[in-house]
Amino acid sequence: MKYYKCIQLKNGTDCILRNPDAKDAEMILRHMIQTSGETENMARYPDEITMTTEQEAEFLKSIESSPNAIMISAVIDGKIIANAGLHPINSFEKYKHRVGFGISIQKAYWGMGIGSAILSAIIESARLAGYEQIELDVVTSNDRAIALYKGFGFQIYGTHENAFRCRDGHYESLFLMLLRL
Ligand SMILES: CC(C)(COP(=O)(O)OP(=O)(O)OC[C@H]1O[C@@H](n2cnc3c(N)ncnc32)[C@H](O)[C@@H]1OP(=O)(O)O)[C@@H](O)C(=O)NCCC(=O)NCCS
Repeated sequence: MKYYKCIQLKNGTDCILRNPDAKDAEMILRHMIQTSGETENMARYPDEITMTTEQEAEFLKSIESSPNAIMISAVIDGKIIANAGLHPINSFEKYKHRVGFGISIQKAYWGMGIGSAILSAIIESARLAGYEQIELDVVTSNDRAIALYKGFGFQIYGTHENAFRCRDGHYESLFLMLLRL
């Protein structure tokens, strides 16, 4: 699924929302490693991002040609500083109305409205793809993300207790959230 839009952030900076392609593989991997190290709210530690640039390029190519998956990056001055994706839950018919969502923005760019801009692009894309609900999970202490999701109408429908066991030994629970389209 394709997406392209130029937007202006709250502070006047120009930002492009577009699909990353195979040429962006290295930049996407760097972005994933950076954002996975900036908070405990991501699913992986930086050293668990082990794909090669070639594998990532192949993955990005498959997303680009997919009718029901999408990735949207935010690009400022040619640099990917945020990335978000819609991924089908699985390929079985009974699951086809549901899609999962994930987002990561580099810390230096938080609070500029990029989360809201990408999420509204993602919701538009999910509707176009015919999905009926977007699902996500979020660390229960991630107030910024929860505020963003609630602002777009996502509701908490459950809690996954002790879903993360962090390396320092503490546990984090996840809220399960859902938006009906
Ligand atoms: C969570 C994240 C996507 C939010 O993106 P963002 O670009 O900072 O979000 P926005 O600037 O669009 O702001 C989102 C809303 O949260 C609100 N907000 C900001 N900081 C907040 C805080 N500490 N507590 C509560 N709400 C807060 C803002 O006021 C804004 O609402 P508004 O548009 O009505 O003013 C981003 O911080 C991020 O990528 N974090 C690291 C990775 C992560 O946590 N991903 C989510 C995993 S589920």
